[in-house]
Amino acid sequence: MGYAMAAAKPGGSEVLHKITLGDLTPAAGEVLIKHDAVGINFLDIYIRNGAYPWPVDGDLILGSEGAGIIEAVGSDVKGLAVGDRVGYTLANGAYATHRVIDAAYVVKLPDNVPSDLAASIMLKGLTVAYLIHDSYAVKPGDTVLFHAAAGGVGLIAGQWLKALGAKTIGTAGGAEKCALAKANGFDHVIDYTNTDFEAEVMRLTNGEGVNVAYDSVGKDTMARTITSTKRRGTIIAFGQSSGPYADFKITDLSKGSYYLSRPTLFHFVVDRSWLDAASAKLFKAVTDGTINVSINQRFALEDVAKAHDALTGRATTGCTILTV
Ligand SMILES: NC(=O)c1ccc[n+]([C@@H]2O[C@H](COP(=O)([O-])OP(=O)(O)OC[C@H]3O[C@@H](n4cnc5c(N)ncnc54)[C@H](OP(=O)(O)O)[C@@H]3O)[C@@H](O)[C@H]2O)c1
Repeated sequence: MGYAMAAAKPGGSEVLHKITLGDLTPAAGEVLIKHDAVGINFLDIYIRNGAYPWPVDGDLILGSEGAGIIEAVGSDVKGLAVGDRVGYTLANGAYATHRVIDAAYVVKLPDNVPSDLAASIMLKGLTVAYLIHDSYAVKPGDTVLFHAAAGGVGLIAGQWLKALGAKTIGTAGGAEKCALAKANGFDHVIDYTNTDFEAEVMRLTNGEGVNVAYDSVGKDTMARTITSTKRRGTIIAFGQSSGPYADFKITDLSKGSYYLSRPTLFHFVVDRSWLDAASAKLFKAVTDGTINVSINQRFALEDVAKAHDALTGRATTGCTILTV
């Protein structure tokens, strides 16, 4: 029988434990997927540690990105069949050998997109897709600041932004991570653990600031991210890996008549036409060489707590997956 890694309440990585899966018969509109690989994301940490609301009573199976093979199809499902290789992103339920899922979130994988690659990009790559095409449409010549540039989202963003012709400034913690980000498309990378990134961004942009700043670090960076942005520029706050930024006032935006957005991927993927178009764009980018995805950490599904500790300990680069 299949199993999953779940938590009964928020806490440290020790709350993750193994549970046996029950009945896995898909209902109308659902499919049963046997996972080959599952992606690890910082979102999983926010949910596990209680930073985001706990969505169920009792055991919650975490994990929001996966890929595998369809083993059963419920009634009223169109375009998917037993044996199809598929991927998806949907909040929670992925840390499992098998899962039943609403077919509305499931996309077929091209033959040249293997499951481990799909499990690394369905959440992180689609996030980059909406960040650079929808939240702000990056144009050739735009100056861009992107924090945590050596992370899972960051390494994908660096390469995709370069292909769009942007002038990119990344930040990362430590010399090795900075070198990695530079090798993945970023024009300049600032070690924000020992350098004032705002001063450096101003130096690199002749005192103007960037057209668009992407901040997923939150507490430690957000105040200076705002002031690293050009007058009438755009700030996209999309995460809080260092903790929530609690000091924001609307009048902060009046310092530069800035535009600010706080988007979440799940408000995009719920739109099936967006999901199909963005997935096609992403699959093309990873198969035509625009984006080279670095899967730099692999853990067995049962060892998911070790994967969490590596991510919270800033010990990972690029993507991390669980193999099933
Ligand atoms: N809103 C959305 O739709 C959406 C979707 C996907 C991801 N995200 C966000 O995007 C960010 C990146 O996600 P990811 O899964 O690819 O993670 P990741 O970037 O691989 O890992 C997070 C990175 O944040 C940096 N960081 C800075 N301060 C930290 C701290 N106090 N503790 C831990 N890490 C810290 C670390 O890089 P350095 O050591 O280089 O600083 C770390 O490697 C996360 O904030 C995530 O929540 C948002």
